[in-house]
Amino acid sequence: MSETTILRRMEARDIELVTQIQEATFEGRHGAATGFTGLQLTEELVRPWSRLWVIEEKGWVHGALIAWHVVDEIHLLNVAVAPGAQRRGLARRLVEGLLSYARDEGAVQIFLEVRVDNLPALALYEAFGFEVLNERKNYYGDGASAYEMRLAISQRPALTP
Ligand SMILES: CC(C)(COP(=O)(O)OP(=O)(O)OC[C@H]1O[C@@H](n2cnc3c(N)ncnc32)[C@H](O)[C@@H]1OP(=O)(O)O)[C@@H](O)C(=O)NCCC(=O)NCCS
Repeated sequence: MSETTILRRMEARDIELVTQIQEATFEGRHGAATGFTGLQLTEELVRPWSRLWVIEEKGWVHGALIAWHVVDEIHLLNVAVAPGAQRRGLARRLVEGLLSYARDEGAVQIFLEVRVDNLPALALYEAFGFEVLNERKNYYGDGASAYEMRLAISQRPALTP
């Protein structure tokens, strides 16, 4: 991750690039599309409870995180980093940004669902301390199961350097 990496809220001008990242990372990868379309991103941008971030380097967006914040709970819906920018700590930075937001807003816990065979995402979430609550059978359109995971929010940073 370079010094010019910027984490910021997603805006309408980011939709095209974020849609491309969604297509490149999700569609075809598991035989079932679970990424956000451009229309869905447009809808998320105006939902009062939606929180969207992007991560950019030198003005180019490489990844995005989409979450819902309802009362004192946050649901992490989606995090994706462009294939050419993966394994450089960008998803980690996106999740750190969400945790920082959660602490600032006094959220108590973060939930998410992840495919049981999505090992990179599982490793990412486990590194932050997310724990599996249960397995949801047939959660995805192709019959795959999901783990429901939860992280209790502490007021301390979740990752140590
Ligand atoms: C999961 C995903 C977001 C990770 O993005 P990334 O920017 O490459 O992740 P980072 O570089 O920040 O990695 C942070 C940690 O996650 C874990 N991780 C990430 N990719 C991994 C991989 N391919 N294999 C094993 N662990 C991985 C590691 O613990 C890593 O820490 P380390 O690099 O110190 O070992 C990315 O692979 C992706 O976009 N996947 C497709 C979309 C998706 O499945 N999203 C999750 C479901 S919503």
